[in-house]
Amino acid sequence: MKIYVEENYQKLSKKAAYILASQVRLKPDSVLGLATGDTPLGMYRELAAMHQEEDLDFKEVKTFNLDEYYGLEKENPQSYHYYMMENFFKYVNIQEKNIHIPDGQAPDIEEACRRYEQLIRLMGGIDLQVLGIGRNGHIGFNEPDVKFEATTHLVQLDEDTIQANARFFDSIHKVPTQAISMGIKTIMQAKKIVLLASGREKREVIQRALEGKISPELPASVLQLHNDVVVILDREAAGGLK
Ligand code: F6R
Repeated sequence: MKIYVEENYQKLSKKAAYILASQVRLKPDSVLGLATGDTPLGMYRELAAMHQEEDLDFKEVKTFNLDEYYGLEKENPQSYHYYMMENFFKYVNIQEKNIHIPDGQAPDIEEACRRYEQLIRLMGGIDLQVLGIGRNGHIGFNEPDVKFEATTHLVQLDEDTIQANARFFDSIHKVPTQAISMGIKTIMQAKKIVLLASGREKREVIQRALEGKISPELPASVLQLHNDVVVILDREAAGGLK
């Protein structure tokens, strides 16, 4: 595990973008696993700028997002489809056919999850997976007490996650309580993982995930078992590390 501690969020974002850009330059048809949330926003801005100014080419890149709320239409501004379009995809030359995000409205969820896993395999697996981390240690929407062997599946969101995400909705009652998420096994099968965390509120969970015991109670702790993980933190998030 390689840990970079950057001075601030902007430098963290640049570092993450640089790693993704290098991946794409080395392998133009890379399969990228992508995350939503606040943390990767700066990285997406940097990548969009690299596309505009340095011709970073996304034409052959394929993407698979980690998760999507269950029950939200793609057009809903709180959906992760909408987030990805508005914060990243519309600024780069990725082809629509190469974008994959779990379908939060699939009529047959189990079939949709199976198909998602199949597609990842068909594309040759994820070359580089970007992750954020929840305050409760979730990665994707794999909440505490997750099964490490799970692949893409329907999950029940934790109370802490619902509260953390309520800031994006008019009221906490409008936050979906379920989501479709890649499983821990899906994430662990990625060839390379880049975990990002910023801010004081991630300090404790980062310390536990990287230095504590490996346990389904703290899903991100499983990353200690992966042989190619790059962790990029800002000083505030890194403050608890020994
Ligand atoms: C998002 C995702 C989540 C977030 C996590 C941190 O696709 O899978 O695991 O990465 O909730 O969110 P932020 O970055 O908003 O603190």
